[in-house]
Amino acid sequence: MLRFDLDEPILKIGKNQVPWTMGNSFEGLQIFGGIGSGKTSGSGRFFALKYLSKGYGGLVLTVKSDEKQDWIEYAKLTGRYNDLIIVEPKGSKYFNFLDYETTHSNKKSYSENILQVLKTVIKASEEKATGKNNDPFWENALDMLISNTIDLSLLAYNKISIEHLYDIARSASRYKKPQENKDSKEKKENKAKPPVFKIALDVVEKGIQKAIEDTIAEFGREYITNLDQKAFDELLLKKIPHAREFNYIQEFFNETYAELSEKTKSIVDFSFTGFLYRLLKDPIYSLFCSNPSNFTPEDCLKGKIILINLPVKHYHKVGRDTQIMFKYIWQRAMERRNVRENERPVFLWADEAQNFLHEYDAEYQATARSSRIATVYISQNIPNYYANMAGVNGEYKVKSFLGTLATKVFHANADIETNQFASTLIGEEYRAEETEARSIVDGQVTVTKTIAPKLDKMVRPEVFNTLLTGGNKNQFKITAYLHAQGMKLRDGFSYDKIRFDQNFVP
Ligand SMILES: Nc1ncnc2c1ncn2[C@@H]1O[C@H](COP(=O)(O)OP(=O)(O)O)[C@@H](O)[C@H]1O
Ligand SMILES: [Mg+2]
Repeated sequence: MLRFDLDEPILKIGKNQVPWTMGNSFEGLQIFGGIGSGKTSGSGRFFALKYLSKGYGGLVLTVKSDEKQDWIEYAKLTGRYNDLIIVEPKGSKYFNFLDYETTHSNKKSYSENILQVLKTVIKASEEKATGKNNDPFWENALDMLISNTIDLSLLAYNKISIEHLYDIARSASRYKKPQENKDSKEKKENKAKPPVFKIALDVVEKGIQKAIEDTIAEFGREYITNLDQKAFDELLLKKIPHAREFNYIQEFFNETYAELSEKTKSIVDFSFTGFLYRLLKDPIYSLFCSNPSNFTPEDCLKGKIILINLPVKHYHKVGRDTQIMFKYIWQRAMERRNVRENERPVFLWADEAQNFLHEYDAEYQATARSSRIATVYISQNIPNYYANMAGVNGEYKVKSFLGTLATKVFHANADIETNQFASTLIGEEYRAEETEARSIVDGQVTVTKTIAPKLDKMVRPEVFNTLLTGGNKNQFKITAYLHAQGMKLRDGFSYDKIRFDQNFVP
């Protein structure tokens, strides 16, 4: 088995050269800095090259089109070019997420897993689009729609496909709440509309037929005819759990869902069918839905680096949805790993990371350490996270999430809130402050100097405006403050000023 030592240094910090190790990398890294401050070409590049040269596998999500080229360069510089798996339109790599979930779950957890994936992605997507702030009613309705759609697809077609889900969800949206004053015939027609219900009903009826035949074969016709209605129904429900399920599903679509207000229904429906529609279109359909997989998240445990080249700047919503989806599936796969059998570290890389956050990130981050997952999130500032993670009032949620990434690197920044946050995080110390007191005694001015300790910020917020941002004018030097929870760095505090070179080679 390949050995990877947790104490292996990645970076040495300050005059005491304190090692920041592989172990530290698994506790997460957050890089902040204004546009052009050196996040990508300074600290980002440095850590990427280090992780690659230490043999990490990983997942890279992309926002800008040039990220692919950067990673090809990084991989070549570290002898890892053959480990790169680039997933992109017109490429040769496919991942069929529904198939993948089938082979990684039993029958019962299968639909549960798909539900979880779809729910997480759609919610993250909606939150980013509308800044929707956890409306429990909306969430609940969406959960139920996805769940019943999946169940109906399984019941009618014995499988889940994006096409079926889309068709079912679309026809569900055409339901109208049955009007009290309409005659019952119209109600019935309305309910019977989507063909999928007919197919499901056929499945259930065939099941009933078979259950009856089986019972007759086993106990004889007499037995059946002697059963009273109640006992007969019980026998059927016991023999074909489908029947019971079908009742629930019908009840949901005919009543619960149909009775939602038009507004709620249209929001929920639009989120779900909109998402499915984006999956059904190429290039996403070919990449993630229709072709058999020729790579999986588990390849990263063998040292592969998967890069999803669907940059958000170019592919917009669908690029983001798909990458969040793959990220979430990947995270769950990495959590399932057994580090006793395979120690290889993996990284999760996201530049402009605010694009890819979802509601389980904080929870997941808490277990990342034991699964040897080194998360690297790069973003300009904290308000970016508010807007994409938790709505405008989500300060608490974002701050607690940031708490799960133990090391933070702060580059030059003009964002007041981020600088304030960095300054507060780095902390205060007592500094000797000299004060002068003047007094006039007998016409003479006397000056009394006193030196008193004063509590002051070790790094004042405005200092972050003065850091070096690389390029010719700075001889390609980039400076930043690093804060690593629990480490003893400058004067025993947990921070130090560090420097990156844009020309660094490992
Ligand atoms: N490879 C490079 N060599 C020299 N300068 C670069 C290189 N890449 C970017 N720069 C310059 O260095 C500065 C930092 O860029 P970059 O790392 O892309 O910033 P950020 O990712 O924080 O927006 C910018 O002024 C940019 O023009
Ligand atoms: Mg950048």
